[in-house]
Amino acid sequence: MAEEMRIVLRNYGKIDPFKLDDYLAVGGYDSLKAAREMDRFELIEEVRAANLRGRGGAGFNCGAKWSFAYQTEADQKYVVCNADEGEPGTYKDRLIMEGDPHSLLEGMAICGYAIGANKGYIYCRGEYPQAVNILKQAIAQAEEQGLLEDFSIEVRQGAGAYVCGEETALIESLEGKRGEPRIKPPYPPISGLWGKPTIVNNVETFANIPAILENGAAWFANIGTPFYPGTKIVTLTGDVVNKTFFEVPTDTTIREIIYDFGGGIKDGKEFKAVQIGGTSGAFIPAANLDSIIGFDHLVSIGACLGSGAVFVLDETRDLVDIAVQIAKFFSHESCGKCSPCREGTVRLQDLLDKINNNQGVAADLPLLNKLGKVMSYSCFCGLGQAAPIPMLTTLEHFPADYMAKIG
Ligand SMILES: Cc1cc2nc3c(=O)[nH]c(=O)nc-3n(C[C@H](O)[C@H](O)[C@H](O)COP(=O)(O)O)c2cc1C
Repeated sequence: MAEEMRIVLRNYGKIDPFKLDDYLAVGGYDSLKAAREMDRFELIEEVRAANLRGRGGAGFNCGAKWSFAYQTEADQKYVVCNADEGEPGTYKDRLIMEGDPHSLLEGMAICGYAIGANKGYIYCRGEYPQAVNILKQAIAQAEEQGLLEDFSIEVRQGAGAYVCGEETALIESLEGKRGEPRIKPPYPPISGLWGKPTIVNNVETFANIPAILENGAAWFANIGTPFYPGTKIVTLTGDVVNKTFFEVPTDTTIREIIYDFGGGIKDGKEFKAVQIGGTSGAFIPAANLDSIIGFDHLVSIGACLGSGAVFVLDETRDLVDIAVQIAKFFSHESCGKCSPCREGTVRLQDLLDKINNNQGVAADLPLLNKLGKVMSYSCFCGLGQAAPIPMLTTLEHFPADYMAKIG
């Protein structure tokens, strides 16, 4: 294994997640104490200067987001942690919640103090009962010792809908409604949960905050690539020797992830493609393996870091077959609110199925391309906009897989 750099997972495996004293012994809650002695504006500026960008997929500057909620006058504000983690192949948030729950609670409480919110929610996917138990126990312990002061945190469980990871659908679900995305703007920091200013951040984003305050913004900003500094927890799956997780600086290359951390392709086979960012991620060919995983670098090669899932495929894999499985996932998960996604995901699956069953014709390929582009432009939320990306990128980089089925 190559060297990891653990910031978010610094306590993972070293402390007992059920014991608050373990977290306190490694300096836990010291950053919250220090934050409460800072002026709120300066605290937010410190987070902004660190250039911590959201680890949930969109990569927005965390301090800038907090500043919008801070500046908005309201009688009530909320802090919401997005722990929906519905992206197949991703389990980084579970590691944090199950291994070091107090680092998340501390990050949320710091945010609460910064923006002037006294109420927090953790929206955790229902499939994570162990994480929910650990979080509830950690909250009770922190509250009992008065560490959170007037900030209270509740855990809410999702019911398995992928779209509820989208921040406004998540808010709808928290309000007890059907999980469907809202029109943006207004964005949640201005009008979110029950119409109040709300910060929604990912688990990994919040868990970075205590370390940033402990070591300073400049320390963090100098780790990895300057445009997306810090580390990223990567969960590696597919045809690699080491199917595991690790936390690496954001200037690590895809090649290093697959060959150094992942031990290379298993059974002595050749690399074919890698999908980064989860099910909606782009498929990347060998020519781009030397790109670093920093957010903007991946965007420049037509990909997205997303949740940090890395799915590796060897030379024997049929990418049309994989694109069909992915299309099935999206047609099942489309919430149906907008017609380009409701209809488009089903058409995408039908067309891919047809080609996969050797019934396609040459004209299906430009049709697929057009359908994918229209969906990217016209779907209401990120689910439908990203759903065609696996098809579009496999078609672009691996046309031979499609042509072989069309004949
Ligand atoms: C379909 C869809 C699913 C999403 N799922 C998640 C998720 O499971 N976890 C998450 O943190 N963000 C998810 N996001 C991104 C959130 O909308 C939002 O950008 C994020 O929670 C903001 O937190 P961050 O700034 O800390 O990344 C999803 C977005 C879309 C469009």
